Amino acid sequence: MNSLEKIGMTESPGGEVPAPGAGIHGPLAILVVEDNARDAGLMADLLAADGLEARYERVDTLEGFKAALQRQAFSLILSDYSLPSFDGLTALAVARQVCPDTPFILVSGALGEETVVESLRAGATDYVLKQRLDRLGPVVRRALKEAEQQRQRRQAEAALARSEQQLRALTARLEKLREEERTRISREIHDELGQMLTGIKMDLRWIERRLDDLGDDRRVNPILERLMGTAELVDATVKRVQRIAAELRPGILDKLGLPMALQYEASEFQSRTGIPCQVKLPPTDPPLRPEAATAFFRIFQEALTNVARHARASLVEIEFRLEDQDGCLEIKDNGKGMSGTDLANPKSLGLLGMQERARALNGCVSFAAGPGGGTTVVVRIPAVTAPEEGP
Ligand SMILES: Nc1ncnc2c1ncn2[C@@H]1O[C@H](COP(=O)(O)OP(=O)(O)OP(=O)(O)O)[C@@H](O)[C@H]1O
Ligand SMILES: [Mg+2]
Repeated sequence: MNSLEKIGMTESPGGEVPAPGAGIHGPLAILVVEDNARDAGLMADLLAADGLEARYERVDTLEGFKAALQRQAFSLILSDYSLPSFDGLTALAVARQVCPDTPFILVSGALGEETVVESLRAGATDYVLKQRLDRLGPVVRRALKEAEQQRQRRQAEAALARSEQQLRALTARLEKLREEERTRISREIHDELGQMLTGIKMDLRWIERRLDDLGDDRRVNPILERLMGTAELVDATVKRVQRIAAELRPGILDKLGLPMALQYEASEFQSRTGIPCQVKLPPTDPPLRPEAATAFFRIFQEALTNVARHARASLVEIEFRLEDQDGCLEIKDNGKGMSGTDLANPKSLGLLGMQERARALNGCVSFAAGPGGGTTVVVRIPAVTAPEEGP
């Protein structure tokens, strides 16, 4: 079958047509928009002589062109500029809509400079004059190569976006498990160790009373003294255990809600560091979903730790409020300020962790320089269940 006959085909056999931008070495599907079958055949011959294996389909009406594009994906479109019933620019506009990644080359006998500029602006890949058809092979090859490179780039970008999404989901899941684990350990430490220590304390009291009953005995006194020392040690241990449990998961967050937990954490911070904290809270407890409350609290802890470690601040202003359906937490210090390099640094894992926590709940964290220096951290997280998370 010669190329002219091939060109006459209106439909390529299904299943063998490569995706748009398929490699230039495989069989290609080329759509030729041309009313002159002889010209179309000449192009096919030239490309075949250039070593380009391809199946061709020729159309010469707008309807035929649209139908062909609907029927299958083409690797390339070669289009005449002036056709009896429509023109190359119209074909180009349709192609850019239907298959924006398929290379589109204008092949025409007469193309003014203005038309060339206009068509390139409208998204044509290249153009070839019919008087210079020797250029067709190299132009087609370059267009196919670029389309293939672009396809690979898109594929790589999509793969990257997918893996980023997976990584994010994994981080969120690990964070959730970590939080659940902390809550469980915190409860166990608080309840079980707490109860045991209370038991020990009661036993010590009992022994103390019995020893007291023995009256003033020189042999008893040193034992009593040691006993009281032990009781003090037990008291200190109870406090330490409570603190460890609270650090793991502040019970106040679960029992009294986020605003009280923020208030408590701020006053702990103030007494630990000596940096005064002004806290502004909503008059009523906002209706926050529990995971949002946890995220706000953990981000708040990290932000305060950063103030203590890096800011050299003398004041921290904290505000929590509801804005539309979002919880909004602002932590503003008057310290030395955070630099752009800190923000861009991939090693700023604390800052990254804050952002990831918020992002996992469709929220965000922003860091800004305060008007008089210092750093302002703003955390925004939808307070109620986010739409895509379902009820
Ligand atoms: N409030 C702040 N004021 C000034 N600089 C800050 C402040 N918060 C963070 N930074 C800067 O941003 C950097 C990154 O913070 P990030 O929390 O990510 O790391 P880190 O606190 O140094 O270590 P960690 O991973 O233990 O949190 C800090 O090293 C610090 O230079
Ligand atoms: Mg930090």
